[in-house]
Amino acid sequence: MSSSTSTLLITGCSSGFGLDAARFFLDQGWHVIATMRVPRADLLPRSERLRVLPLDVTNATSIRECVEAAGPIDALVNNAGVGLLAPLEGVTLDQARAIFDTNTLGTMAMTQAVLPQFRQRQAGVIVNVTSSVTLKPLPLLSIYTGSKAAVNAFTESLALELAPFGIRAHLVLPGRAPETRFGDNARQSMAGEPHAAYADFQARVFAAVRDTHTPVTRAQDVSEAVWRAVTDPAAPMRLPAGADALALAAA
Ligand SMILES: NC(=O)c1ccc[n+]([C@@H]2O[C@H](COP(=O)([O-])OP(=O)(O)OC[C@H]3O[C@@H](n4cnc5c(N)ncnc54)[C@H](OP(=O)(O)O)[C@@H]3O)[C@@H](O)[C@H]2O)c1
Repeated sequence: MSSSTSTLLITGCSSGFGLDAARFFLDQGWHVIATMRVPRADLLPRSERLRVLPLDVTNATSIRECVEAAGPIDALVNNAGVGLLAPLEGVTLDQARAIFDTNTLGTMAMTQAVLPQFRQRQAGVIVNVTSSVTLKPLPLLSIYTGSKAAVNAFTESLALELAPFGIRAHLVLPGRAPETRFGDNARQSMAGEPHAAYADFQARVFAAVRDTHTPVTRAQDVSEAVWRAVTDPAAPMRLPAGADALALAAA
């Protein structure tokens, strides 16, 4: 793929990994379609190779209009995602559905939307951003981990059925990245009292996470892993990103 003519579409570019990956690919000379629920072109450097389009991955009309407006693309990065840190008993099924709608079905829907053009050109790369929690489970993340583990299994099966059409699919598994808005967004989606029976346990888990001094993942680690998945035809199916994720994968 030549960087001067290649185009990447990324979901969830308003902050964190998506925003960094959009900058990263622009710096490499790519054409970038940065998508956001609320478009903010001012978040990214001015460039004639940048387009910012609205996209909510849980909304079928939004997906159709975005993919139509985007036109031909060479790679899709399904990065948009939301977290949920709570015991299963403290979660309503509506909250669980909302997590799966974004993290799992949103990824599947965006992939479906771009596949016809990839298949027609017998080329294209799909990169799905999941999480290192699928490598080593942590408590209070059962719904979130389930939503991402489903994407791992989905992607590994999909890669096999797309290979005959010259289309690749990969997974990027970031570790914990406190610098993004992920933690705040997860806390916001759980606003309310914690489940009483788990309150002490939850407080201890939160304190342990806060006080941990293990290495973390930087947005740049994720961008580099996405870059490798997109540009290296020999890239492995799973790319852990960040020192903590790499250590987990090695273990
Ligand atoms: N940070 C971590 O510790 C960590 C670790 C492993 C994996 N991950 C995964 O990495 C990805 C990026 O997370 P991040 O850390 O960069 O978090 P972030 O800063 O919260 O970014 C998440 C992005 O997803 C977008 N988004 C949420 N719901 C959406 C929807 N329905 N349609 C379109 N966009 C939507 C958000 O947009 P709005 O501004 O509109 O909300 C935001 O741009 C996620 O898939 C997350 O699960 C994160």
